[in-house]
Amino acid sequence: ETNPRVPVIWLHGLECTCCSESFIRSAHPLAKDVVLSMISLDYDDTLMAAAGHQAEAILQETREKYKGKYILAVEGNPPLNEGGMFCIDGGRPFVEKLKTMAADAMAVIAWGSCASWGCVQAAKPNPTHAVPIDKVITDKPIIKVPGCPPIAEVMTGVITFINTFGRLPTLDRQGRPQMFYSQRIHDKCYRRPHFDAGQFVEEWDDEFARKGFCLYKMGCKGPTTYNACSTVRWNDGVSFPIQSGHGCIGCSEPDFWDNGPFYAR
Ligand code: SF4
Ligand code: SF4
Ligand code: F3S
Repeated sequence: ETNPRVPVIWLHGLECTCCSESFIRSAHPLAKDVVLSMISLDYDDTLMAAAGHQAEAILQETREKYKGKYILAVEGNPPLNEGGMFCIDGGRPFVEKLKTMAADAMAVIAWGSCASWGCVQAAKPNPTHAVPIDKVITDKPIIKVPGCPPIAEVMTGVITFINTFGRLPTLDRQGRPQMFYSQRIHDKCYRRPHFDAGQFVEEWDDEFARKGFCLYKMGCKGPTTYNACSTVRWNDGVSFPIQSGHGCIGCSEPDFWDNGPFYAR
């Protein structure tokens, strides 16, 4: 209770803002408790009241005051083509803002598949040359929290860990927190007994779909997707894509956007 709250600067590049949409729905802990009690969210283009020059001033003030002590959270990614002109933020290419703010950060969090892997805006032929943030930030620890979007409680869980233990979580070889990304959807999927028994949905809305059989033959990517959806689930643990009747599309995996089709047929 006596520790100062960790300053966080949250930037937005090329993205859809649904990582933020996910974050604000966290139930354990509540997003409001994270923002008001656990961290000091000093700058966030979408959640802050300030705008324009006032917001830019806060950004610079935080950077100078907490040099080497703040966490840079990044949602979206920088397009590099034509000098970065496809994403202008505060009157300059986002890639410049990203590099400047990363230079004085303690560590960087890459929210979602955009910041971690590139995502749909990097889909072939990638006309804007959108790249994951680790292509332009090479000298800071980067925690990748992939998913399109990531699960709310995974996002706040990463922040809670840093806040509680004062260190970064253990990462896997691809830079993801092991505590949330060490298992495949398939490993803990409640439809797994049907997979093991060879019971599969063959057509959308067939009798086997109504019985809740395995969605592997409908293109489910659960066997190759590392994420916590089948354990943590979504909307305060209520459900996840497979429980809603659709296979996993592997939204937390690199290149999922080009590795279609999303449907088996
Ligand atoms: Fe949106 Fe997905 Fe990118 Fe998050 S990772 S900003 S949900 S496109
Ligand atoms: Fe595995 Fe997908 Fe079948 Fe679940 S629905 S058991 S994740 S293939
Ligand atoms: Fe994404 Fe698959 Fe989970 S599509 S939301 S990783 S079940």
